[in-house]
Amino acid sequence: MKDYELRNGVKIPCMGFGTWAVDDGHVAIDSVKKAIESNYTLIDTAARYGNEKSIGVGIKESGIKREDLFLTSKVWNDHRGYDKVMEAFDQTIHDLDVDYLDLYLVHWPASKHQYENYNEINRDTWRAMIDLYKAGKVRAIGVSNFKPHHLKALMDMEIVPMVNQIECHPGHYDQETISYCQEHGMIMEAWSPLGRGRVLNDERLKQIAKRNQMSVAQLCLAWNIAHKIVPLVKSTKKERMLENLEALNHTLSEEDVHTIDTMGEFGFSGQDPDTVDF
Ligand code: A2P
Repeated sequence: MKDYELRNGVKIPCMGFGTWAVDDGHVAIDSVKKAIESNYTLIDTAARYGNEKSIGVGIKESGIKREDLFLTSKVWNDHRGYDKVMEAFDQTIHDLDVDYLDLYLVHWPASKHQYENYNEINRDTWRAMIDLYKAGKVRAIGVSNFKPHHLKALMDMEIVPMVNQIECHPGHYDQETISYCQEHGMIMEAWSPLGRGRVLNDERLKQIAKRNQMSVAQLCLAWNIAHKIVPLVKSTKKERMLENLEALNHTLSEEDVHTIDTMGEFGFSGQDPDTVDF
């Protein structure tokens, strides 16, 4: 699989397997095994998903060598701040049963509507991320759901985020955040690249997909890839995992990419970091 280079030289695959809402237990174990068999090497999870133990079992049972895997997790919102991040990290490593992560992300920023001193909280959280990185416990560090105004408060720190993972799919294209991050050398990742299935019945997307002889799911993924955004796509079914990987063999014309960019808003989860209540 093609990869991109993070600011520190670490390579990240250009597409990954997401595990949000993959039920803990045998579903998560089997899904991870099927994803690895299908050739996904980037596995994205989070403490909040509640399935890290099963993801760890799936990885072990797949037989993949640790160094051939790009494993990501995230620190949840109830563990912001230096000491709590350290605690959360230890728990995640224990649950996944690994010695290190390839990428560790701050799941959501503390925001203005929640805390007056939100920038200070985010800086304190980020200090721990830097120390985990410097201690060699994670190969790369980044954030998720940060907007430029959250990121700006981190940009004078010793190490700045290498990745930002945001919701991104046709119908939800936050060009301002993507441009800001890419101009500052971050690799973008997309959660919910199919809009959790909500955008798959859009007639305009169906037409473009048909003309390009691909499925709408593949179109959503190819559109992310055209923007150099790493889609983290989730499925529990092997045939869909393979169908989704096939998107890598399709290139969209600039015109099709532009048409999708300018379709306006649809299929958004509603989870805006400046208003969420978690
Ligand atoms: P399932 O797990 O039953 O395959 P997102 O990655 O945007 O969060 O979307 C995930 C949702 O899209 C899941 O409900 C998943 O269902 C479904 N899905 C994943 N791949 C495909 C596909 N190729 N075609 C249709 N639906 C898909």
